[in-house]
This record gives sequence, structure tokens and C-alpha cells, in this order.
Amino acid sequence: MKFYTIAENERIPALGLGTWKSNKGDAGKAVAEALDIGYRHIDCAPIYMNEKEIGTAINAALTDGPMRRDELWITSKLWNNAHPKKYVQTALETTLRELQVDYLDLFLIHWPVHFRPGCLFPQKPEEFLAPDEVPVMETWQAMEKLVKKGMCRYIGVCNFNISRLNDLKQQAYIQPVINQIELHPYLQQQDMLDYCRENNILLTAYSPLGSTDRPAPLKKENEPSLLDHPVIVEIAEKNNLSPGQVLLAWALSRGTVVIPKSVQPEHLRENFAATDIALGGEDLRAVNGLERAYRFVDGGFFQTPGSPYTVAGIWGDK
Ligand SMILES: NC(=O)c1ccc[n+]([C@@H]2O[C@H](COP(=O)([O-])OP(=O)(O)OC[C@H]3O[C@@H](n4cnc5c(N)ncnc54)[C@H](OP(=O)(O)O)[C@@H]3O)[C@@H](O)[C@H]2O)c1
Repeated sequence: MKFYTIAENERIPALGLGTWKSNKGDAGKAVAEALDIGYRHIDCAPIYMNEKEIGTAINAALTDGPMRRDELWITSKLWNNAHPKKYVQTALETTLRELQVDYLDLFLIHWPVHFRPGCLFPQKPEEFLAPDEVPVMETWQAMEKLVKKGMCRYIGVCNFNISRLNDLKQQAYIQPVINQIELHPYLQQQDMLDYCRENNILLTAYSPLGSTDRPAPLKKENEPSLLDHPVIVEIAEKNNLSPGQVLLAWALSRGTVVIPKSVQPEHLRENFAATDIALGGEDLRAVNGLERAYRFVDGGFFQTPGSPYTVAGIWGDK
């Protein structure tokens, strides 16, 4: 297993297991299988609706398996309906209870988008809170308190652009250690990577394989495939790898954490083995040539009629 250094003297496993869309009955089995294979990093979120099942699998592995809690890296996230300060701790308590652990290694703000507390996903405009209705520092300071209480070891964000990250860094007492964002050859975000390298923030690459299993309403028409791209397939064949391994090895070559989701034992094994693969310079350059500024998870689901959020506003500079 490959590790990165985080917060100067801490190690985070470079490859973790994604769990979005891991359905009931599959999610727990996938986590158990992954831990057996050697994964030591699980990426969770309450909105994935499977933390309870994952918690049962984690608990069984910690009770019967060869690993201790401190050998496992568990990330979860604060959903959009719990950003006002009085809801933050309760949200983490629920996640800890479901995951059956005393603390998280990393607690992330899931999106820079606010919903009314109690609303899982807005059906009407009034179920959104406006972008400035909950200042990010209100949520962040509540999260800092949870670090001080020992309920999470590190805190960070997801889906923040450079401008939001920079504002947060300047005001934060406890610095964000990670920004978890969509990263793959079609969306390389080199400016973000450069900014984070200069500012001691690790990037976690989500949807590194192109998030092919999103339900139809979350997909655009004629989405490009990453796994089937001829350049990826050719590099895979040439090196006796799978296309997925080429994508994961490329992500790791950039120094990003990567969290492919799978519920299939053969994919889990194949993906885990990617941490030992080093692509040659020519292959890496060929993959770099695939940039097309394409987002699979573009946040369009927050841009519903009457919503104060737009795709451009989420990713744009302000
Ligand atoms: N912070 C955020 O806002 C955010 C957003 C999106 C995702 N994430 C996190 O990132 C994780 C990964 O992203 P994702 O789930 O969107 O998509 P992904 O990991 O890019 O793709 C998952 C899809 O790839 C398939 N797959 C896995 N390994 C494969 C392989 N070796 N060869 C071929 N196909 C393979 C999976 O199928 P099988 O299950 O059948 O193997 C599934 O259909 C999520 O699960 C979640 O934990 C976070």
C-alpha cells in the first residue's frame, strides 16, 4: 500500500474505497472484501445511505480481523442540511453511531451548498438556504470544535474551488488538509493541483473511473467514456493492465489520493493493485493529452427551478 504524508507527520493510504451508489446488501460485503484484500481507507457519507451497513462490516473486521482502528482511515462528510453550527455535531454523532466508531479520521464539508435542516434533498426552492445564509466559517468553526473534542482527527472540504479554499485557509484556525474533487484525465484541474501543492492541501480524486454507475437522471446524454477511450485501452493492453488500473495509476502519479468505488471482488482487487503500478513517461503524457474540461458530477442536481445555486456559481471563481 502506498501512503501520502498529511499534516506533516500523518500517513493517509493513497487509495481508498468509494462507497457512493454501493447499494444495500452490497456495500457491507464490498467493505468486508476490501479490508480483506488490504484496503485501509474507506470513503463514506451519510447521503450515500449505507453508513449503517458499512459500520457493521467495519466493526466485524475490527473485532475479528487483523487490523486495529488506528490502522484504518475512515472519511465521512457533513451533508448540506447540517451546515448551521447547531447541527454540525449532531450530524457527526449520527455518522459515528452508524459507522460504529468513536472518531473519524477525516470529516469533510460535502458541498458548498446549503439546504434547510431536516431536508434531505430540496423538492421546492424554499428548501434551499441561500449561499450567504450560512457563512462557511460558521460551519468550519463548529467542525474545529469536533477536532478538539476528539470526534474527528482532521477536517477538510469537497467541491471547493480555489477561491473558496483560499478564503477558508485565511480564516481557519485548524487548516483544511484535503479538498475532495472530481479528477480524471478529462478533468485534470492542474491549477487546483498547483494551488494545493503550494498550500499543503492534498487532493482526493473522486469519480476517477468516470462514475459509470450513476443513475440515468444524474447522467448527461452521450457522456464520454473514460474506460473505453482508445488511448487508455491501448496503454492498458501494452502494459498488460486493465483500463481502470491505467486511470488509477495515472491519478496516483500526480500525488492525488484516489477513491474508486466498486462492489465487485475482481474490480476491488484490480483497483487495489494499481498502487504498485508506475506508468512510463510516454504513457503519462498520452493520458495528460486527454483533458477536455468534462465533469461527470457537475452539481446540476442543485440547479433546480428556483434554486439559488447554479453550476457556474458552484465551480466559478466566485
Ligand atoms: N465528495 C463528493 O462530492 C463526491 C462525488 C462523487 C464521488 N465521491 C466519492 O468518490 C467515489 C468514487 O467515485 P464514483 O463512485 O462517482 O465513480 P468511479 O469510482 O469513477 O466509478 C465507479 C464505477 O466504476 C466501476 N468500476 C470499479 N472498478 C472498475 C474497474 N476496475 N474496471 C471497470 N469498472 C470499474 C464500478 O462498478 P462495480 O461497482 O460494478 O465495480 C462503478 O460502476 C464515490 O463512490 C464516493 O465515495 C465523492
